[in-house]
Amino acid sequence: MVTTIRAAAVADLTRVAEIEQASFGATAFPCAVFRQHLDLSGDLFTVAEDTPGVVGFLLAARSVAPEVAWLLDMAVDRSFRARGIARGLLTHTVDRCRSLGVVRLRGTVDPDNVPSQRALHAIGFAEVAFDAAYFGSGGPRRILELDLR
Ligand SMILES: CC(C)(COP(=O)(O)OP(=O)(O)OC[C@H]1O[C@@H](n2cnc3c(N)ncnc32)[C@H](O)[C@@H]1OP(=O)(O)O)[C@@H](O)C(=O)NCCC(=O)NCCS
Repeated sequence: MVTTIRAAAVADLTRVAEIEQASFGATAFPCAVFRQHLDLSGDLFTVAEDTPGVVGFLLAARSVAPEVAWLLDMAVDRSFRARGIARGLLTHTVDRCRSLGVVRLRGTVDPDNVPSQRALHAIGFAEVAFDAAYFGSGGPRRILELDLR
């Protein structure tokens, strides 16, 4: 089966939360957060589906400033990594944001998270700021942005 990217649905959330837990451990979002984001983010919350079902997801949301959207979370099942699934999710989100009139798509990454930074840089994101205490002490983040104009 070719991997399909589509909007997330309630039935996907248990699997999304499993991939989240396996990827982030103690700092994983609980399933309830995903349920609420389903209502908030609409089709900016996407999943990648392959033969066994959902194998990855990307959660984005529009800011109160309508020209800005944020990538909030993304993860791919370990056994499906390095196959272009994050690239597919990101490309889909970029296209959808552009069609919504979003001008700047932003995301934050842990400076130690090389795969995530590579995935974002590969589709054109550039670092615009660094915040040593984005998540409080011990929570540094690079802030990346993609200009959609
Ligand atoms: C980050 C993550 C989502 C990437 O998913 P993926 O499906 O394996 O990524 P892709 O195969 O689409 O690769 C996208 C790009 O990133 C690069 N990349 C991905 N994993 C990499 C790694 N381990 N080392 C170096 N580069 C890597 C690829 O080379 C690729 O570049 P290209 O398209 O120019 O070839 C995945 O590693 C993951 O789920 N990590 C744990 C959760 C996480 O850290 N999420 C991001 C923070 S919110």
